[in-house]
Amino acid sequence: MSDEAVVSDGLSRVDQPWWRSGTIYQIYPHSFADSNGDGLGDLPGILSHVDHLQWLGIDAVWLSPVYPSPQHDNGYDVSNYRDIDPRFGTLDDCDRLIAALHERGIRLIMDLVVNHTSSEHEWFIEACASRDNRYRDWYIWRDARPGTVGGEPGAEPTNWGSYFSQPAWSWHESTQQYYLHLYASQQPDLNWQNPAVRDAVYELMAWWLDRGVDGFRMDVVNLISKPSDLVDGVVVAGAAFADPSPFVRFGPRLPEYLAEMHERVFTDRPADLVRIGETPGLTVEQARRLTRTRECGLDMVFQFEHMEIDRKPGDRLSPVALSIPALRGNLALWQTALATEGWNSLYGNNHDQPRLVSRFGDPSPDHWSASAKAVALALYLLQGTVSMFQGEEIGMIGATLRTAADFRDIRSVNYLRAAAAAGLDETVVVEALRLTARDNARTPVQWTTAPDAGFGSTDPWMPVAEHPPTITVEAQRVDPDSVLHFYRALIELRRTHLVIADGATRMLDTGQTPIMAYLRETVAETMIVVANLSSASQPVPELLGQNLRAASTPLIQSGAYAGANSLAPWQAFAAFLPGATPKGAP
Ligand code: NOJ
Repeated sequence: MSDEAVVSDGLSRVDQPWWRSGTIYQIYPHSFADSNGDGLGDLPGILSHVDHLQWLGIDAVWLSPVYPSPQHDNGYDVSNYRDIDPRFGTLDDCDRLIAALHERGIRLIMDLVVNHTSSEHEWFIEACASRDNRYRDWYIWRDARPGTVGGEPGAEPTNWGSYFSQPAWSWHESTQQYYLHLYASQQPDLNWQNPAVRDAVYELMAWWLDRGVDGFRMDVVNLISKPSDLVDGVVVAGAAFADPSPFVRFGPRLPEYLAEMHERVFTDRPADLVRIGETPGLTVEQARRLTRTRECGLDMVFQFEHMEIDRKPGDRLSPVALSIPALRGNLALWQTALATEGWNSLYGNNHDQPRLVSRFGDPSPDHWSASAKAVALALYLLQGTVSMFQGEEIGMIGATLRTAADFRDIRSVNYLRAAAAAGLDETVVVEALRLTARDNARTPVQWTTAPDAGFGSTDPWMPVAEHPPTITVEAQRVDPDSVLHFYRALIELRRTHLVIADGATRMLDTGQTPIMAYLRETVAETMIVVANLSSASQPVPELLGQNLRAASTPLIQSGAYAGANSLAPWQAFAAFLPGATPKGAP
């Protein structure tokens, strides 16, 4: 799959990297398809649906972790980087999947989780054996705070909290030191300052590339560089711990490590192997710095700012009302900042976020279909690489979550526990989590109208979300007006019109309305994209109206037509504008 193999394998283009106009489809293996009826999805289950992926027209699959893991964080706690967890299959199954995808012109991107390992990884087991073990310095160890007794509350070396509502340090009794974990205590952070750690990571990456995978989605990769001096942070009112992010989200050696990774792993390999950095908390300048050139080490960021617009600052699990003008403003900021240098992902949900239609759309029966389409159209005709999530193509809605016992995810469970310890009302916390929890994304994909939704087990690890029969692949495949067909058309549109990959983005000012309207412009052509992101009709602002009267027949559209001066609920479309149209203020 080198650059020269352009025409024959259908996977490469010489003029620009495939991902600029491409669509990546994330598979969360636990919930995709279960081939052996044990309640958990698996690799043979994925293999049985590769034709669906090909029909949809995606360019690549990002596969969430399938490595051996004790599954405290559903595979994001890896205990062996060079194998497949027997729950998901075997290395042979993985090879078969790579081959089946490649035969269909689809790449496979592996999840690379190397900010931390599982506490059951042999490196950590060795590191715990004694203070002078050769793996000790592969992790981040510190003594108890001076004047305290190790293991007692407050003795932690710093006051940092983990991202899973616990202290970020755990006491290791037999060697009398703390180790750092930014996530669960079963996910100790690797010490990237140690060159042996970096060597080991580069070797395992090469091992997967040699096996035929086409790149990596790098889990929280911007957290890998920690400062040498770890100091207390600020504990905001109402919080139990300090947020470590200011110290770790762009650590002192991050650019150096990523450039070194490029140098050591990628210089002698084809330039179409993709490196996607999951990068919570990066600024636009930092994102640009890491994705400016191939040598920087990342081809795109996967950042979170637009996922935080409807969240209480500093608390991703507390919802606030979504403001479309604020969302629009944030999307515009990133479009402009990375217009000529750097690259961004376009996404609205994944395994860590609630379902897109339940969050930015309107899942009620009257608006579900049009809103799923409108939101997709508004997001995915921007500049960037689309990263969509399994089930999104049929407009899957969130999980059925009623009581604390319905939550499985470690982050939700820890959050509920911490809230109870702080004396918060459980009903209120459950109501917030019902909207924000990661559990929402993790229900089995609804393939058919059969009782098991075609997932493959009637007692899956997460119950199938309550849904009408229309929200299944089976029902939508035969309905040309379905969300599924709309996604297929949108993916194709992105590939056909290079203005979507290359054009400058100009967000049009629609004031405080929930209308998102923007232009995509190259010297040769201008595309206008308009979406009423609300369940009410909206009058069309004057300048937008002038543009719309000049627009050509829509290339793609959703929702009813409400006349020239008004947009129907969730009406959305994209069209070309002729040269002399009024356009809009930037
Ligand atoms: C980000 C992953 O997407 C998430 O699922 C995981 O819990 C954390 N990183 C820790 O690996």
